[in-house]
Amino acid sequence: MNRREFIQSTSGLALSSLVFPHLSFAQQEEWTAAFNRNLKIKPWLLGWQGTNQAVLQTGELEVKGKIPQDLTGYFYRNGPAQNEVYGKRYHHWFDGDGMVQKFHIVNGKISHFGKMVDTHKYLTEKQQQKMLFQTFSTYLPKRISSADEINVANISLLPLNNRLFALWEGGSAYEINPKNLKTIGIQSWSPQTKGLPFGAHYRQDQNGSIWNIGYASLNDAIVLWHLDNRGKLKQFKSLPIKNVPMVHDFMITKKYLVLLLPSFRFDKTKIMAKRSFLDAHYFDKQQASIVWLIDKNTLDIQKTFELPAQFVFHFVNAYEQGNEVIFDSMRYPNADIFNVFTEVMQGVDNKFVGAYPYRVRLNLEKNTATEEKLSNIYNEFPSVDIKETGLAHTQVVSLQQRGELFFNSVAINNYQTGTAQHFSYTKQLAEEHLLIKDARGNDWVIGTTLDYEEKCTKVNIFKAKKLNDGPVAVAKLPYVLPLGLHGKFINL
Ligand SMILES: [Fe+2]
Repeated sequence: MNRREFIQSTSGLALSSLVFPHLSFAQQEEWTAAFNRNLKIKPWLLGWQGTNQAVLQTGELEVKGKIPQDLTGYFYRNGPAQNEVYGKRYHHWFDGDGMVQKFHIVNGKISHFGKMVDTHKYLTEKQQQKMLFQTFSTYLPKRISSADEINVANISLLPLNNRLFALWEGGSAYEINPKNLKTIGIQSWSPQTKGLPFGAHYRQDQNGSIWNIGYASLNDAIVLWHLDNRGKLKQFKSLPIKNVPMVHDFMITKKYLVLLLPSFRFDKTKIMAKRSFLDAHYFDKQQASIVWLIDKNTLDIQKTFELPAQFVFHFVNAYEQGNEVIFDSMRYPNADIFNVFTEVMQGVDNKFVGAYPYRVRLNLEKNTATEEKLSNIYNEFPSVDIKETGLAHTQVVSLQQRGELFFNSVAINNYQTGTAQHFSYTKQLAEEHLLIKDARGNDWVIGTTLDYEEKCTKVNIFKAKKLNDGPVAVAKLPYVLPLGLHGKFINL
């Protein structure tokens, strides 16, 4: 299929020919009741309760310790927030409507403002006071005409050229006003690419340009995007592939885009048989995962490698070294992690199947791929200095599971000095932590936690060099924010 045919096939069809199966409302009520029953005995479930507030706002936060004076900026986060829609509870953590959080840090002070993204879905349901649309993993029978009709803009954020975009991965980016978080609208990077999936995990190149991918499962394609540093579309290509794998993240090096196609793939017949998008995926442990090296100039696949069956949400980074392309990933042995986030929506315990950090070496001369496990501790949500994207990374910040419940620790591995540090929170669930810099170029780590004993969300700031000393500042919100996904820090 050429580009024109692809666009034509996408613009009209998307999901229009599909009828989604009925959600039993009796069943829905069971989910809400089960969650509420479990919440009484498992306070950590507060993180998945969700909010029905359109705005959460407070003035200056109470801070323990000292926020560094040279750290000035906006710490934005995004995540599913409305986990129950008018009394009906979603079946997966990733389903809920997105809310963007903005923490403003200046002069050693911090404040919070959060606002729901006014997506078409969110506003339509608000107007009718009813759950109307199917989501990633919750069935509903309503016909939909395009992926953007059910876009929840709830995964991540792209700050670009003084603009801000809330990202989902099934459809378009939603533009948000970076100051007041008001939703501006759907962003199409060109008339020809309207509605095509713009993924949540773009990579910013050394020249400031933006690379991104999207998996167009119903169109049997993976799309590639390249925007310049002002947001103008430079390149676009769709690569045909059957049984499209769920590719949540990818990497860049100086010459290549690096995509790992996991063994978690889409079966169109299951969607036709009235299953949710997630339920239309299957993990095939007999099927190798594929790595594509894609030439950045032509967007052609240059080389293909095979790795054992696996699933990856997040990659750390990739780089070229001699005749090798090397990358680090947070690798799951299968896709069972999705079940964990289904069960948590009912408050049911599940054995947490986490990801281990792996290093993969692709030998470009021998055409071999080898992988090495780097740790026996579950790690996720990796973050590197964004200036090291595509180059050999020196430090990696990640969340670790060192207790019984999900992620309770933050870690930093320094490959230059060979040092590893971690800090474990008490009675708190950790969300993504970022490696950031202050105005003088000093490294800091910033991240939020849900303190389920004190029933509030906290912002924690660490000196990167002394992470194991604990946070230098902890800011306490007067409320709980629903556990979210990804964020970005913008220095001001
Ligand atoms: Fe992600």
